[in-house]
Amino acid sequence: MSYSHEFDVLVIGSGAAGLNLALHVADNANVAILSKNKISSGSTSWAQGGIAAVLDDRDTMESHIDDTIKAGAGLCDYEAVKFVVSQGKEAINWLIENGADFTKDHEHDKETVVEGDYHLTKEGGHSFRRVIHSADATGKEVQISLEDKVRKHPNITLFEHHMAVDLVSNKATSPEDRRCIGAYVLDTKRGKIDAFSARATVLATGGASRVYLYTSNPDGSTGDGIAMAWRFGCRVANMEFNQFHPTCLYHPDARTFLLTEALRGEGAYLRLPNGDRFMDRFDPRGELASRDIVAHAIDHEMKRIGADCLYLDISHKDDDFIVEHFPTIYKRCLKLGYDLTKDPIPIVPAAHYTCGGVMTDLKARTDVNNLYAIGEVAHTGLHGANRMASNSLLECLVYAHSASKDILENLKVDKPIVILKPWDESRVTDSDEEVVVSHNWNELRHFMWDYVGIVRSTRRLQRAARRIDMLAGEIREYYSYFRISPDLLELRNLVTVADTIVRSALLRTESRGLHHTLDFPDSDPEMEGRNTILKPARRPNSR
Ligand code: FAD
Ligand code: SIN
Repeated sequence: MSYSHEFDVLVIGSGAAGLNLALHVADNANVAILSKNKISSGSTSWAQGGIAAVLDDRDTMESHIDDTIKAGAGLCDYEAVKFVVSQGKEAINWLIENGADFTKDHEHDKETVVEGDYHLTKEGGHSFRRVIHSADATGKEVQISLEDKVRKHPNITLFEHHMAVDLVSNKATSPEDRRCIGAYVLDTKRGKIDAFSARATVLATGGASRVYLYTSNPDGSTGDGIAMAWRFGCRVANMEFNQFHPTCLYHPDARTFLLTEALRGEGAYLRLPNGDRFMDRFDPRGELASRDIVAHAIDHEMKRIGADCLYLDISHKDDDFIVEHFPTIYKRCLKLGYDLTKDPIPIVPAAHYTCGGVMTDLKARTDVNNLYAIGEVAHTGLHGANRMASNSLLECLVYAHSASKDILENLKVDKPIVILKPWDESRVTDSDEEVVVSHNWNELRHFMWDYVGIVRSTRRLQRAARRIDMLAGEIREYYSYFRISPDLLELRNLVTVADTIVRSALLRTESRGLHHTLDFPDSDPEMEGRNTILKPARRPNSR
């Protein structure tokens, strides 16, 4: 049996963005939060380094704005950057009021301590210590404190293991009247598709880094929100800017484990296998250059000397400091046979963050009425061609808040809820070819890594585009004949996202920020400030 639910606000995603928004609207609205797995299964729980904000009197908004824009390599939207940076302190205070506990500095070192004695660390691209953190597990702290509030709120209903399949619109006669009225959702435990009607729907589904074979992200980062919005007729922007984190642990048993940039912020060196440092050859800021430069330098050096990995080394710092500030990483490495206080740790870059996404304005509104996108799923203009470390959680918080204000305003005047028809499964059967799905998953992630990775070329991108076309055809067919499963839905979304990445990359005939192509190795001044915007051909809602 399938269910039909009605809510004022449907939040798809339970990370920093989704939980934050739900808490901001819940005193005045009934809210449903969906998570396709457990509530804490998004990237938020895995965040390590911290949240960037101007919290020290000696730091300035101008400096945070300048650093963000410099890292963004000519593509940041100044208004968006100013908007986010100016609300940093308020966003952090809100988290503290809601129970988040950030690391204090017992030694009261004047350089790193701010009012309230919070320790601020530094990361790549930041010219000041402005990253507030909870040791090396900031995301876990944020997630747990918000989860606790959400579970206790009487107006919030949490639906874990509920995966949104597609958004639904009203029957509008003109694009201006078109609005989102909810979503169809697969209850992955019951295997049934339920209808969720809502007056406002919010995509907070995180990023798409699982489109690559090697990633720092959890399994659920399959770009579902980007793909759903695209199928729904929303524009997406700058999908070619896929951020690779320079330092993921290189170990067969821990391929997704990150070694936070804060290690370099606190003085860690990058070394070649022979022990030499090399970052000064690539940027005067050395190990603290922005992420695109460091990842590219590592990739370059690995290829130059034919190494499987390079090394991150903080062993020259005080042992107690290392263990106190990086307890999670210290313990994890020790389990795998590396002592962070003594050994250089093997590292490789891995896909980490999706800078592009669903186009939104300062209120997080998308192209369709009553549909919002917040957090990593969105393209707000903050990150440009390369996100600066620790600006993502800040973006989640700021846009969740601004979207919540707009939603509450609209709920005062908006039209009544439209009840969705039940999902039609009359023409599909159970699949006897699940192997097709798993095979295509692997194939996609392999060729995206090989052809659309840190260094690209037109020929490799074209090769990827041909394979994507083929996979898309197979999946369309599969989707229309067989009952859907979570794996099939994720694959369908990943292929859509891969298509937007490759198409955007082919359109950017220059190298800029995270997009580096051998055929156009330099930045083209004509393309400065020019986003890659893709507009979908609208398709109907149902199968
Ligand atoms: P997420 O936290 O990823 O949550 C997505 C949610 O959407 C999940 O609940 C998921 O279940 C749900 N979902 C997805 N698809 C569906 C669907 N179809 N139906 C229903 N639910 C769905 N950023 C920083 O600023 N500072 C850091 O220190 C930092 N460290 C990081 C370390 C790691 C290892 C990683 C992976 C990322 C890090 N980032 C950091 C980036 C940052 O964590 C993420 O960008 C941010 O947490 C994204 O939050 P979100 O709420 O948008 O999405
Ligand atoms: C890290 O801790 O290195 C990740 C920070 C980020 O992605 O912003």
